[in-house]
Amino acid sequence: ATDDHAAAVARLILDIPDFPEPGVLFRDLTPVFADPLALRAATLGITEPFAGRFDHIGGIEARGFFLSGAGSALTGAGILAIRKAGKLPRTTIREEYALEYGTAAIEVHEGELEPGAKVLIVDDVLATGGTVAAAARLVERAGWEVAGISVVAELEDLGGRALLEDRYEVFSLLKF
Ligand code: PRP
Repeated sequence: ATDDHAAAVARLILDIPDFPEPGVLFRDLTPVFADPLALRAATLGITEPFAGRFDHIGGIEARGFFLSGAGSALTGAGILAIRKAGKLPRTTIREEYALEYGTAAIEVHEGELEPGAKVLIVDDVLATGGTVAAAARLVERAGWEVAGISVVAELEDLGGRALLEDRYEVFSLLKF
């Protein structure tokens, strides 16, 4: 089933040269999100390996939200909102992470889930791994458990998996 899901998704990913800057090959998943069967395949593809082992899906703003939303509908899990800094109105926990230039930060609401809640972290792309690593630290600092990290597309050359694999179960539906 995983292979069928992967094939349904792979044929719709577009490779966009020189975006957002020269020399970068951008993997555009918007056609996957636009196609009902491919969206379903992507969502089942990243959630099925962790079936029965999570009760919430933590999607990272912004592109991860498509997958946490669809994943919630397909699995019955709740959504943990992992947002870019400054968007959440109550007391938050914040983690910074490195970007190519400078840093960014993501947040969750303190106490959003019950202690020990099992959170599957999802995103569209795993590149350097900085984003999902920060999300995993947030989940742990908040007193919840990381059930796993699951992405649609892993960019292997950027080495994100190495940063994560010692501590977390990492799954990618497609590798580039
Ligand atoms: C992209 C992508 C991942 C992250 C992967 O998000 O959706 O979240 O980069 O990169 P990393 O593994 O090197 O951390 P981006 O920061 O562009 O934000 P967006 O979803 O709001 O477009």
